[in-house]
Amino acid sequence: MTEATASFLVSKPGAALLARGVAALSKQRGLEPEQRAGALAVLEGRERARKRGWKRAEQLFLTADSLAQASSEEIAAFHAGCFMGCKMVLDACCGIGRDSLALAEAGMRVVALDTDPARLVFARANAGVYGVGERITFHCTDATSFVQEGHWDGVFFDPARRDGATRFSRDAERYQPPLSFLSELQAKSRVVVAKLSPALPDAILAALGGQLTFLSEDRTCKEACVVLGAESGPPQALLLPGQERYEAESEPPPLAPQLGAYLLDPDPAVLRVGALGALAERTRAALLSPEDAYLTADEAVFCSGVRTYRVRIALPYRERTLGRWLREQGIGKLVVKKRRYPKEPEAVHQELGLKAKSKGTEATLVIVAQGKSWLGVVCDPA
Ligand SMILES: C[S@@+](CC[C@H](N)C(=O)[O-])C[C@H]1O[C@@H](n2cnc3c(N)ncnc32)[C@H](O)[C@@H]1O
Repeated sequence: MTEATASFLVSKPGAALLARGVAALSKQRGLEPEQRAGALAVLEGRERARKRGWKRAEQLFLTADSLAQASSEEIAAFHAGCFMGCKMVLDACCGIGRDSLALAEAGMRVVALDTDPARLVFARANAGVYGVGERITFHCTDATSFVQEGHWDGVFFDPARRDGATRFSRDAERYQPPLSFLSELQAKSRVVVAKLSPALPDAILAALGGQLTFLSEDRTCKEACVVLGAESGPPQALLLPGQERYEAESEPPPLAPQLGAYLLDPDPAVLRVGALGALAERTRAALLSPEDAYLTADEAVFCSGVRTYRVRIALPYRERTLGRWLREQGIGKLVVKKRRYPKEPEAVHQELGLKAKSKGTEATLVIVAQGKSWLGVVCDPA
């Protein structure tokens, strides 16, 4: 989107246009194609933000693409909490401003930068929607040159990890700006908080030092957040909402003698940080198989760290036997969960003889690696 289109959309006539909604917009005559496309993109962004539960989604300025790169409200609040005691924070790559808003709402003054002029127009408008415009100064500039000019109490660094459709989560030197820019930021500030991909190799994350936290939201491991300059300890997983925390540890979980009445599927951030032993201790569960990361217990457990399933049956994963058993039980819909099994759920449906429109009840199939073979655990969410 161009800066001119973004500026039009945040103006009064633009707001009036957006208020008319998608159906009216499609029919509106005399509208420039750029403005129509821009307005439709904002309405789509608002709809997606609304579905994600963003407050004031219907007033915000964002597109599906900028929303996908933005922090969620709860994660932005977590980032802001890392700057306790800071008065002036630089948001080096502000995007549509989600993190800048959280910093300003937490009482800080913010200097917000981005190289994309349209995003900056939206970020400024969003600050107005949140009533924090006076606390944030926006600059359309390259952070790598801007930081040469000053010092801040804190810096928040959330570089772009994609270029159009190309993602480079694991290749930190292709981030925009690259990860190596962090050391320059450290020279400019007491506290630096970096939002990085959780897919970055452990060695790269460990070499940064500081406190590493894998943030999970609704059971998706969203980011590796690194806080430099504050007190640090072992890497952690923080599960949102709910704020459950797990620390990396070296004790592995005990191995279960057999599958219990319940199968527990750990949160991906707990696995990412290597805290399966701590999770097993908290849930009084044991590891189902040394080759895979599912836990099992005889009693139902409910906490953010696991999703709990009541076991119906466990069979060696053989297409014919399992497919026949499913049909005998009248199961026509299967939610397939697996970590290491190489085939996609659609292929599993096919090999078990389940058609897309099969009639029957629903069950969950968890395919667990066991040595060189696979175990099919048919279960239901508890
Ligand atoms: C992941 S997004 C930031 C999202 C933001 N934290 C939010 O919650 O809305 C990264 C942003 O960095 C910007 N960017 C890329 N290179 C930059 C640079 N050299 N200086 C400043 N901003 C840059 C991109 O335009 C993009 O908007």
